[in-house]
Order: sequence, then C-alpha cells, then structure tokens
Amino acid sequence: YQIPAPSNEPVLNYAPGSPEKLAVKKALEEARSKQIDIPMYIGSEEVRTDKKIPVSPPHDHKHILGHFNEGDASHVEQAINAALGVKESWSTMPWEHRASVFLKAADLLAGPYRAKINAATMLGQSKSIYQAEIDSACELIDFLRYNVYYMMKIYEDQPESSTGVWNRLEYRALEGFVFAITPFNFTAIAGNLPASAALMGNTVIWKPAYTQAYSANVIMEVFKEAGLPDGVINLIFVDGPVAGDIVFNHKDFAGLHFTGSTGVFQHLWKTIGANINKYRSYPRIVGETGGKDFIVAHKSALPKVVSTAITRGAFEFQGQKCSAASRVYIPSNIWDDVKKYLIEDIKSIKMGPTEDFTNFFNAVIDEKAFDKIAGYIDGAKANKMNEIIAGGNYDKSKGYFIEPTVIVTQDPSSTTMCEEIFGPVVTIYVYNSEHFEEVLELVDQTSPYALTGSIISQDRFAIDLAMKKLINSAGNFYINDKPTGAVVGQQPFGGARGSGTNDKAGSKLNLLRWVSPRTIKETR
Ligand code: NAD
Ligand code: ALA
Repeated sequence: YQIPAPSNEPVLNYAPGSPEKLAVKKALEEARSKQIDIPMYIGSEEVRTDKKIPVSPPHDHKHILGHFNEGDASHVEQAINAALGVKESWSTMPWEHRASVFLKAADLLAGPYRAKINAATMLGQSKSIYQAEIDSACELIDFLRYNVYYMMKIYEDQPESSTGVWNRLEYRALEGFVFAITPFNFTAIAGNLPASAALMGNTVIWKPAYTQAYSANVIMEVFKEAGLPDGVINLIFVDGPVAGDIVFNHKDFAGLHFTGSTGVFQHLWKTIGANINKYRSYPRIVGETGGKDFIVAHKSALPKVVSTAITRGAFEFQGQKCSAASRVYIPSNIWDDVKKYLIEDIKSIKMGPTEDFTNFFNAVIDEKAFDKIAGYIDGAKANKMNEIIAGGNYDKSKGYFIEPTVIVTQDPSSTTMCEEIFGPVVTIYVYNSEHFEEVLELVDQTSPYALTGSIISQDRFAIDLAMKKLINSAGNFYINDKPTGAVVGQQPFGGARGSGTNDKAGSKLNLLRWVSPRTIKETR
C-alpha cells in the first residue's frame, strides 16, 4: 500500500483583495468580537475549571480574547489514565487509520481552518500574516503530510530473509505514554510534537506554553474534527513543574518530546535521570532547545546579500525563532556598505499590530520576555565596547514592542554575542578581513549552542573552509542565505550541543524515536 510523496503546501500571498486575505480579516474580526473559553481536552471531556487565565494579543495586551482553564495535578492523572486507556486500541490499529486522521487534519488546515489558525497565531502570538502562514498553515500541514509518508517508509524498511526464514521488524509504539511539551513560538511545532508521536501509535499528554493556548485550541479542534479518537492526544494547561512531578514519577512514562529552552530541558533530563529506576523502559528523550545562531560573512560577500540575511534572519517574528540570527561576523572590507544597507533596511521595517498586514514587525510574546530583552539592551548600552546603530528603544504601554536593535561590539565574547536573548536584538562583530580562519574559531568557541548558522561568501574555498571548521557549530548550515526558515521535507531541522538531541523535526529520524522495534524471526 503506497501513499504518494507529498509536496510542500504552497504559501498564499494575501495580496490586497485576495480571497485568502478577506478570509483572514474576517477571522480576525470574529476572534476580536467575542471572548472564548478554552478547555483542556482530556479523554472524551472538555474540562473547565475555576481557574480562568486570560489570553491577550501581545501587541494589544489590554484586549481579552478569552480565557483558558488551568488544571492541577488531578488533571494530569486524568490525562495519563485517558492516554493509557486507549493505548492498545490506538497502537494496534492498522497504520492507515492513524495516517488517515492526520492527513484529514492537514486538509482541514489547508482549507476550512486556514484562516482561523492563522488569525489565532496572529492574535495569540503576534505573528505577521506571512509569519503565521508559513508556520501555522504551511509548516504544520507539511509536518502532518510528510510524517505520514515517512512513517510508511519506516514500516517498509525490513531486514533480509533467507530460505526457510522470514525476518521482520515490527515497529511497535513505545510502552506507556509520551509527554509533549511545546514552546510558544511555532504553532507548527506545538502541533507536530504530539502528532508525530501519536502517528507512530503512541498516546500523548500535551502541555503547550500558556502563551500559545489560543492557537493550541484550534489545533485540538482540527484534530477532533479529523476524527482523532478521544484520549490519543490530551491537551492540558497545567504548570510545568506540577505536570512534571506527576509524569516523571509515573512508571508508564515512555518518552519526552520537548521543544523549548536549554535550561528547562536540562532540568527535565536530570529529573528523568533521577527517577530512572521507576520506569518500565528507558524513556526516549527528544529535545530541541536554544540557539545563538550566526551569520559569518567572508570578504568576498556581497554587502546587500549580507544585509538582507541579517534583516530577515534576525528580525522576522521579532527574533523569536530558535533559528534567528543573533550574532554576526562581518569583515572590515565590506562593513561600511553592509552598515549603509542595514540601516536602510531597518528603517523600512514597519512595526505595529498584526491586524495591519503591512506591518512586518509586531510585539514580543509577553511582559517577561519584554523585560528580559530590554534588560539585554540596557546592558549593551552600558558597555563601552558597544555601539547601538539601530533601534534600542522599547515601549510596553499598549503592546510589548521593542525596536529591531543592532549592536556593534568590539568584544566578540560580550554578553549579547554569546547568550540567547530570544528577541529582536542582533550583535555584530567587525573583524579584520584577513583573519577569516581566526573568526571561524571564534564562531565555534564563543557559544554553547549549535543550532543554525550561515556562511555568506562568493569564494568556494572560503565556504569549504567554513564548512570544515564549523562542522559541529550548527545542525542546520546555510550557504548564502539567512539561517531561518527550514522547510519540512527540504531542510530537516535540529541542532546538537546545547541546542538539542538533533533528532531532526520533519524527518524519518524524528519518527524513529517514537517506536521500539521488535525483531521477529519465523522459521518455516
Ligand atoms: P520555555 O523553555 O520557557 O518553555 C517551553 C515549554 O516548557 C513550555 O510549555 C513551558 O511551560 C514548559 N516548561 C517550563 N518549565 C517547565 C518545567 N519545569 N517542567 C515542565 N515544563 C516546563 O521556552 P519558550 O519560551 O516557550 O520557547 C523559547 C525557547 O524554545 C527558546 O530557547 C528557543 O530557542 C527554543 N526553541 C527551540 C526550537 C528548536 O527546534 N531547537 C524551536 C522552537 C523554540
Ligand atoms: N522552521 C523554523 C526555522 O527554521 C524553526 O526557522
């Protein structure tokens, strides 16, 4: 039985007057005109509690879009029981049935739910229409469709047999349940983490970031409408440590599918390690974590190409991408031209609410992030080795707005050059053009992360040298491009070192983590 190879969902252009633009405008107006009550989804129940947490657009934090219902430890127990209750029937179902649910979900997102999920991401996470479209529509749809294709390829992968002996691999789901913990910054990642484990026959407890609750709710609506049986994915809004306390002490905990910050992941890994004797099997631990992603330009680079890579790589979605360019190394021979283009490019960036489709740049996710990013900017201003050449201002009176900010530093080991800021701040170090090899050493050594990075050069020897010297510095390495915007099926995504277990989201490698194969030898 074969499923045709998928192709990437086309990105719609939302031109003025286009049907897709009108549909999103309508969805935005509808969402703003009412307050919704977002439940937890546990087994067959939509669970509501007395603890209603308000949801607001980060760019308009006084407006209330609705509330989500926060749960406690008892809801985590219920979710685990629901997941374990349907585990056998879900995991032993012919895989075509599981595939069918997620292919239907992809079709719903591509069609009737596209405007709704984009509007939810634009309002709940303050993404521009383009950023919402490439995330909550295209990337999520691609994850769902490609996962099914890769699952089929995994099941097809069988060992050799010989005369009188028939060998096979049975790709069993993990024994127990999977815990998916997801970040705020990609609706696609939030949907994919529970869905990929579930597709392979697992049942899942899904705990999203509270700041992504609004679009998480739409994802669950889609999964339900696509026919996902009750209990397969259980969405809970429970404080991370409270949920972790129940899950990581449970004998049936079988795997963690995490995306978020490095510090949280390391804490969870230690907790799991400390409890290792409690589990039936060694849990699978998959974590995609932080980044301090680089662009390194060679003296042969075209200044305009460098400037565009910085502007788009550092400032799309306000720099809140794990892949965002946040440290840049520019040779002195092209610096004046790069600086001129960069200042022009940044001047052309329009900042404001997502409802105005001409705004490229919106607000950061919440007050905590705003304060943290503003603190980094203030720290940079106070350091005499730094100069701020663009931005540097911020204002949270109406929304959490921080200008796209460019710091030029004389210290390649300065704080903003090394730490993940996760906001619209990029730091540039201008190096002596003749010291390319030394600068590659700096790129490799000054950050604990290794997620994405770019080399910009017209010189093939320089590209080759960068690829060799930076072999362990990035899991996604881009030549003459920005370091963001990996596409499912084209650039499998993930990094090593402090950036994660590099299990490549959107690939067979990731799906293989959610099965525990049984080898069968049958002698005739
Ligand atoms: P975060 O680490 O603050 O939160 C991630 C998730 O972990 C949330 O659901 C949060 O509630 C939960 N959490 C926090 N503490 C917990 C605990 N003690 N126990 C259980 N759960 C807990 O991250 P964020 O701010 O939502 O996302 C930004 C981070 O995610 C950045 O560091 C970014 O680089 C990273 N990220 C990485 C990738 C990747 O593919 N490498 C992709 C997206 C985001
Ligand atoms: N797909 C996202 C990017 O590459 C994570 O920016």
